Amino acid sequence: MIELVKNKFIELFGSLENTENFFSPGRINVIGEHIDYNGGYVMPCAIDLGTYFVLRLNKSSKVSVYSMQFEDLGVVSFDIKDENKDHTYADFVKGVIKIFGINEGFDMVCCGNIPHSSGLSSSASFSTGLGYGLTYLLGRPVENTELALACKRIENEFMGVNSGIMDQFIICNGVENGALLLDCNTLKYEVIPFDLEDNILIVAGTNKKRKLSDSKYNERKAQCDKVLEIINEKGFKYNHLCEIDNETMAKIMPLIDDEVLQRRFRHVVTENVRTINASQALKKHDIKTLGALLTASHMSLELDYEVTGKELDTLVHGFLDQPGCVGARMTGAGFGGCAIAIFKNGFANKAIENVKELYLKEIGYEPSFYEVKIAGHTRKI
Ligand code: GLA
Repeated sequence: MIELVKNKFIELFGSLENTENFFSPGRINVIGEHIDYNGGYVMPCAIDLGTYFVLRLNKSSKVSVYSMQFEDLGVVSFDIKDENKDHTYADFVKGVIKIFGINEGFDMVCCGNIPHSSGLSSSASFSTGLGYGLTYLLGRPVENTELALACKRIENEFMGVNSGIMDQFIICNGVENGALLLDCNTLKYEVIPFDLEDNILIVAGTNKKRKLSDSKYNERKAQCDKVLEIINEKGFKYNHLCEIDNETMAKIMPLIDDEVLQRRFRHVVTENVRTINASQALKKHDIKTLGALLTASHMSLELDYEVTGKELDTLVHGFLDQPGCVGARMTGAGFGGCAIAIFKNGFANKAIENVKELYLKEIGYEPSFYEVKIAGHTRKI
């Protein structure tokens, strides 16, 4: 892929002189959904699908960018001080310039093999890769966690999505064949070998068009904040909902007199516990327990948190009905995006065929299936 990007760079900008190449991965989240912004544990992996960049500083104040995934936009050029939003991927470029204080013009060509809105974090892959690349070229590289926190601000302050730290963090810190058990409160993490023994992981995309800023993502975050506020008004002193365990939740629950908020609260607390249990199961190579926890996570996201929707439910329940399925769930923000499933070796191909047919019948268009490897973080290549 990088060769394609280099050739495009030569075609558009003349030569590869003074350029550097970078790769930034996408991610899947094994478990721990919608709890990063509640101070909980998440267990994501970086994947070998992502964004490839060719970049060079151009010694002027002009920024010229070209994305091979948005060819119809052509080369987008603007002055480095231009902060006007144009509601294209160039807004992420402007976000990177502002947040990292980039003060020199540059030329960029990029291409990703993560489809947009696929739920594999194409936007965090892009902003993190560009932030990493530009700070590298300017000779002031940023440490991984600082890079992740800065890129999170781009989502929050530029794109209007009140997302947590999970995507940017795993993209900056992912390791080959490892999942990260990340404590989103302290940002401490542990690498757990992602070894599914005689099982394989399937990643399936709904191909539903969605934009997180238009989705109910921010509403869910606001509902969690509201629950925390109600609890603390009753005399508790929690900093975030994931400090609460299952038993304490049961005691506190009657204090919340809104049925919807009660369900949101239950998802958050139980998902945090499931994630810790899933990390232990993965460490012990107990894939059966891991699979059951994945499925329980999906049910909680479907019934209590209500972020799945017909497309993801069709994929997940379709997988669960197939022989050899150990567990399945949505991954990422939901409302569309991707699902993951664990299958015993030898059962996946038939399952994919059946679920494809079912999905087409129920939803009216085909899902996508991605072959992914668990890969390393954003880097120069
Ligand atoms: C999106 C956000 C993350 C996280 C997930 C849900 O991917 O960017 O911060 O909240 O949704 O777990």
